[in-house]
Amino acid sequence: MGKYRMKGAYISRRYFLGGSAVLLGGGLLAGPTFAAQGCLLTQGDILGPYYRFGAPFQSKLAGPDEPGERLVVTGTVFSSDCRTPVPGALVEIWQANSAGLYDTEKPGNFTDKGDFHLRGMLYTDAQGKYRIETVMPGRYPVPPNLPGLEKYAGLMRPAHIHFRVMESLHVPVTLQLYFKGDPFIVGDPWAHDRSTNTIELEQDGELRRGVFDIVLARGFA
Ligand SMILES: [Fe+2]
Repeated sequence: MGKYRMKGAYISRRYFLGGSAVLLGGGLLAGPTFAAQGCLLTQGDILGPYYRFGAPFQSKLAGPDEPGERLVVTGTVFSSDCRTPVPGALVEIWQANSAGLYDTEKPGNFTDKGDFHLRGMLYTDAQGKYRIETVMPGRYPVPPNLPGLEKYAGLMRPAHIHFRVMESLHVPVTLQLYFKGDPFIVGDPWAHDRSTNTIELEQDGELRRGVFDIVLARGFA
């Protein structure tokens, strides 16, 4: 189950050469996220049981009264050359609160009509950038009785934020964002090999900040 989708794949030489042309012609630079690991497509992950369809358009997921450490995540959605920004990508985000609870207690109920909490949708801007303001998600155990996941019931998951990213000329990706140093990553069937989705956070006063760039596979040659 842990190998649900593709692992990160090195881009083709053809894409790399194409990206170089963009780099020389447009002066666009890949973000620092890619410097250490080369150009990798963002790894996919399961949707999980707590996705709900139709979250409101908002990038500030947590209000001032939301308990937890404040967290700001910024990033750019790139095409498969890791250099060409993707404007107008739809980014859906959902997460648990600081106590590890989602706003629905019914796993798998994707059409829950209740208020959306710690969920949002946004479009990347003209430079392919996005920014979310939220709180650090709490860890929670895999719930029981999920078909196919029974053997993981009770396993404590590392802190994570769910993303689903789509744009008309690219292959959509569903993923979870993890945070370096979380001791529960190594034993997690999803997180342990999601290097493209694991970021370092910096402390900035009361705030934690992280940069998470996303690379989508182009949906055409
Ligand atoms: Fe989750």
